[in-house]
Amino acid sequence: MKKILNVALPKGRLGENVYAMFEEAGFECPSIKENTRKLIFENEKLGIRYFWVKPSDVAIYVERGAADIGVAGKDILLEYRPDVYELLDLKIGKCSMAVAGLRDFEDDRNRTLKVATKFPNIAKKYYFSRGRDIDVINLNGSIELAPILGLSDVIVDIVETGTTLKENNLEVIDKFIPISARLIANKSGFKFKSEIIETIKSKLYGQVEKL
Ligand code: PRP
Repeated sequence: MKKILNVALPKGRLGENVYAMFEEAGFECPSIKENTRKLIFENEKLGIRYFWVKPSDVAIYVERGAADIGVAGKDILLEYRPDVYELLDLKIGKCSMAVAGLRDFEDDRNRTLKVATKFPNIAKKYYFSRGRDIDVINLNGSIELAPILGLSDVIVDIVETGTTLKENNLEVIDKFIPISARLIANKSGFKFKSEIIETIKSKLYGQVEKL
């Protein structure tokens, strides 16, 4: 029986761009473009199966071997530190990890700083290295609301175009990590399916080089 390669793609615009790169690399799966609510698509001939997962879950699928490879943001890799191989920077989905606050925010170092974020580990590491005591407030979305409503002093979040901050009267205080999408692989999957994974990696690398 032919081995099938399982690929976890992040649901959404980034995932569509990633799939387009796989398609250009010769690993097409036309049924993925049908407008259905299906989550799994297979091209039996090429031995590849794609599935859409929540972007923040891609690394879990890959770490546990449910997917052999996948594409995850560097933000997720830094936050959760999954035990996977990071094979390639795809140089798409570019954004930054940043601290942001209200336009007139001034830090009072005598007080514990309240930081709202979806990335508690990244936030703790950032402030620990600066010797700043913080109280982390874990949120799952719409982080920008927190300083506006007085839930936090600042936020640590992804900034892409800056529009969300601007439209909510917030500004960047420090952009501290550049983020982009990474091709990741399960460690044993990489050993057993090395040929197809290496082919995909080098074809994607060829595209990245042209960006
Ligand atoms: C992300 C991030 C910011 C926004 C930044 O949110 O948390 O809110 O995108 O993008 P911008 O700089 O281009 O405005 P996401 O869309 O993932 O939604 P969320 O509120 O659920 O985190």
